[in-house]
Amino acid sequence: MSLSLDAPTQDAPSVADDGVWLECIACGGQFAPFDDVRFTCDDCDGLLEVRYADPPTFDDFAGEGVWRYAAALPFEEGVSLPEGHTPLHEVPRLKEDVGVNRLRVKHEGMNPTGSFKDRGMTVGVRVAAELGVDRLACASTGNTSAALAAYGARAGMETLVLLPAGKVAAGKVAQASLHDARILEVDGNFDTCLDIVQDLANRGEVYLLNSLNPFRLEGQKTIGFEILEEFRDDYGRFPDRIVLPVGNAGNTSALFKAFRELVAAGAMQPEEVPALTGVQAAGAAPMVEAVENGADEVRRWEEVETRATAIRIGNPVNAPKALPGIRETGGTAVAVDDEAITEAQRDLAREGVGVEPASAASVAGLRKLREQGVVDADEDVVCLTTGHLLKDPDAAYEAGGDPEPVGGSTEAVREHIGAE
Ligand code: F0G
Repeated sequence: MSLSLDAPTQDAPSVADDGVWLECIACGGQFAPFDDVRFTCDDCDGLLEVRYADPPTFDDFAGEGVWRYAAALPFEEGVSLPEGHTPLHEVPRLKEDVGVNRLRVKHEGMNPTGSFKDRGMTVGVRVAAELGVDRLACASTGNTSAALAAYGARAGMETLVLLPAGKVAAGKVAQASLHDARILEVDGNFDTCLDIVQDLANRGEVYLLNSLNPFRLEGQKTIGFEILEEFRDDYGRFPDRIVLPVGNAGNTSALFKAFRELVAAGAMQPEEVPALTGVQAAGAAPMVEAVENGADEVRRWEEVETRATAIRIGNPVNAPKALPGIRETGGTAVAVDDEAITEAQRDLAREGVGVEPASAASVAGLRKLREQGVVDADEDVVCLTTGHLLKDPDAAYEAGGDPEPVGGSTEAVREHIGAE
């Protein structure tokens, strides 16, 4: 299966284990899935994908959460807390305000550690156990580290997380800390942290669980399956567009893979696939730059800055998987400034949906594209909100109203609120 939307299914090569193998998206090299630890192609260092001889249809899915989709995953079960089955919120006022036919918000902040990363870790940590590695590691803007710490703890494995010093939201560091990860605060940005973890992994010091690890993306595919099933149950059709925040572009790659597999299995038509629409913060927008320039490669931004620290990333390592996803599905990418992100955080909060800044980027991006006429008024849209409000309490305080000091008596409170 190439990265095109209508690529046919492949026969299992001799290296396959029970119809599952790893394949390089650059040179087509094929590898056994669980014999050795590898994160990229042995021959050309290209990105690897997990491939299946028998991709599933919707009829193969049963149960709830990520493991409902076991037929599309390399194992029947994983290290689970459990994860997935997140709400697809209706946001009627926001829908009217933005001006689209339908708008739903898939709130991935409702996963066990408060972000979509749990979907990747339930599979990734299971694979780590299969491979028999003993030290798990990631670079992180925060959420990956929280998820890895929790899933590593659950599996009884040692975890090491590298964070950009001073640039990770408080809730995320607190999680990594309490779940007992060893936390290294690196003097550098996320991209530097990832360079280091990759070096450590290549030297065999750690098992890498960033989204460069192809098995993580298998778990994250299930966001796509859930959205399609839930939307179809409610409206009898699939959404026209899915809008999501982009950092390393792992989710964009994972959703595209979910769609490709369903098309290969004959479970959906290529023209039914939602347009993947990526949103980045203006201060960290290398993917947007590449999409706008029609480039096949992304230029690494050395300097990045945004209040949405989760997506403060200048070198989206999954770009070679994600750019074809955006292109093949007829999607696009857009950059939004921090003020628009905070405003979108307030918009969602007014509907009762509490998200961290990076998550609100999806809504800010949709609003901008709607204003530009790139998104039509008759579209059915799903925005992905990737992390919970409590991940970044400081940003929530900044976006929200201030507490009002008041005396400790009913009279004082009555007077303060202007009671008659
Ligand atoms: N939203 C949130 C809340 C995130 O934490 C991330 C990534 C993204 C969006 C971007 O997703 O990388 O798949 O494009 N956070 C990573 C981390 C980098 O370390 O927690 P992507």
